[in-house]
Amino acid sequence: MRTKLSVNINKIATLRNARGGDYPNVIDFAQKAQIFGADGITIHPRPDERHIRYNDARALRPVVNTEFNIEGNPIDKFINLVLEVKPDQVTLVPDDPNQLTSDHGWDTIKHKNYLIEIIKVFKEAGIRTSIFVDPDLKMVEGAAQTGTDRIELYTESYASEYAKGHKEIVKPFAKAAVLAHQLGMGINAGHDLNLENIAYFKQNIPYLDEVSIGHALVVESLIYGMENVIRMYQQKLQ
Ligand code: PXP
Repeated sequence: MRTKLSVNINKIATLRNARGGDYPNVIDFAQKAQIFGADGITIHPRPDERHIRYNDARALRPVVNTEFNIEGNPIDKFINLVLEVKPDQVTLVPDDPNQLTSDHGWDTIKHKNYLIEIIKVFKEAGIRTSIFVDPDLKMVEGAAQTGTDRIELYTESYASEYAKGHKEIVKPFAKAAVLAHQLGMGINAGHDLNLENIAYFKQNIPYLDEVSIGHALVVESLIYGMENVIRMYQQKLQ
């Protein structure tokens, strides 16, 4: 099965914001990523808009002709933005406003009722839902009870252990994917995936629908060029 590559463009907005102007332009970057073969564009607007801004989400909507994925903590402001922009997919992430980046998945048992309520709102609006979870079978079971369409496996531990040569780290991810599939959910994955670790992940994780990659992909693009990098990811995801 083919795994889709969604390019997270938050880092392009960070670069733009560093100078206060509109260069690099995130719309232009999203268009080019799609021309070069990305299957989707992901953004993660945070409440302080320090990377991508809420208005970027609005401006990107008509430009993203692949799959548009908006990630974030479902505070009211975020829910309203997603319902207005109507992306193809919303990924719910339990991040604090001041967190540098996402660093854990949902406790799907503790927050079950909260998640059920929010997921229902998005599904009624025709938006596919995904929730960010650690590769923990109890959390995957809990996710299935929320009614979410998909889970996104949080891959930071895979990436850091793989870099140390601990390839067996992939096993809990594979088990989580198998269980999620048995429970009727699709499987996405993301965080710290890169050109070095993506092929082994893909080879060992069944039913992998989509990966979303930002930080490493942008750094690798500085070295090899974005067109080459997207092509390299696509080859590794076959
Ligand atoms: N998935 C989620 C939920 C994230 O928060 C992020 C980072 O914003 C990613 C995937 C992508 O991670 P990276 O930038 O390390 O590729």
